[in-house]
Amino acid sequence: MDRIRIVGGNELHGVIPISGAKNAALPLMIASLLTDDTLTLENVPHLADVEQLIRILGNHGADISVNGRRERQGESYARTVHFTSRNIVSTTAPYELVSKMRASFWVIGPLLAREGKARVSLPGGCAIGTRPVDLFIEGLAALGANIEIDGGYVNATAPAGGLIGARYVFPKVSVGATHVLMMAATLANGTTVLGNAAREPEVVDLAKCLNAMGAKISGQGTSTVTIEGVRSLSGARHRVLPDRIETGTYAMAVAMAGGDVILEDTEASLLNTALEAIRRAGAEISETNNGIRIVRNGAGIKPVDIVTDPFPGFPTDLQAQFMGLMTRSSGISHITETIFENRFMHVQELARLGAKISLSGQTAKVEGVSRLKGAPVMATDLRASVSLVIAGLAAEGETMVSRVYHLDRGFERLEEKLTRCGAHVERVSD
Ligand code: UD1
Repeated sequence: MDRIRIVGGNELHGVIPISGAKNAALPLMIASLLTDDTLTLENVPHLADVEQLIRILGNHGADISVNGRRERQGESYARTVHFTSRNIVSTTAPYELVSKMRASFWVIGPLLAREGKARVSLPGGCAIGTRPVDLFIEGLAALGANIEIDGGYVNATAPAGGLIGARYVFPKVSVGATHVLMMAATLANGTTVLGNAAREPEVVDLAKCLNAMGAKISGQGTSTVTIEGVRSLSGARHRVLPDRIETGTYAMAVAMAGGDVILEDTEASLLNTALEAIRRAGAEISETNNGIRIVRNGAGIKPVDIVTDPFPGFPTDLQAQFMGLMTRSSGISHITETIFENRFMHVQELARLGAKISLSGQTAKVEGVSRLKGAPVMATDLRASVSLVIAGLAAEGETMVSRVYHLDRGFERLEEKLTRCGAHVERVSD
């Protein structure tokens, strides 16, 4: 199994290209099941989760081809992928496939809308909380679906004439349930109004793509999304938006290690709250034509309190990385997690590097230390794993991160991107 070896102490200088967003690419790929025409997605990141979803879509009958490599500095970072689901050959998403990645559960929306039925295994994914699917079930039932849970599977059936537009207010903000309800409602009879919808940029990106396919969606990016059902959707060509989590992660890496880096092909507006927190921690951030420049020269890291929240709040997917940064601050910071109940597994691994963190309920108190020391650590989930890399960049000596497959689910060529900027990071295959 691969491990990542980091020797801390180097500043970062250079350019880091930001990939297309994993969390946008996944729902966009799933949306291809809504049409028998070809959906072409540009800027698709090359990640384990994307490959896994390609297998899942193939199981439903999608024909998938990859081309149009965009060369950058001799390497290709982005791919153009064509998805054509002429016929849906199976409306079942089996446990073996769905258990590996929670987002694959989302195929339930398009399958139900297009074929009138879906049998989808209850999901797996990162072990960061119980992550139930009650909102999906309640929402699809509001559109007229009959839903039963049996033997670990959700069996959903649409009424004879198809799903029926309805008004549904989410009792809690959910990115995935908003994606699924929005996709399902595109082919429903009549108009659907979703209240308390997620406002994440990835929801907006999906709505934009669905509209390019002929859907009639408005209000995306606000908490009320309206979807007028249409009879069918066509193909389209869509470019996946930049990964705001990858952007924030590298911005925090520079804030941690010091240096001067341009994050290319990304947009500050996707992560204002996180960038503001990094600024308050002592880094200078400015916008360039095509991205963001981040500089920390000499100044120490200041303590900053954060609370995770749905967009436009501080993203839960950057919480672990920010905690990594705060381990070296000059004082005490408080980090409160409000989205997932078990998303502090990185705390004990950061402690192995010398961090001083105590937990009280959903809040971590981080007492900054003047030095971290490299140690063997274990990645526990996707975002937690990269917080260990960030801490390792500032730790003395060698940090060896095991269970790197978590990282490979969501970060494209991480070691290469950091090495190009002067970090000492390498992948070690046993
Ligand atoms: C998505 C992101 C993930 C991010 C999360 C929150 C993808 C592929 N994943 O996950 O990286 O951390 O948004 O920004 O885009 N919930 C319920 N019932 C449900 C559904 C969700 O109680 O039926 C709860 C969850 O347990 C969690 C909260 O709602 O506490 C938010 O989860 P949700 O927004 O649905 O996360 P995902 O869409 O799974």
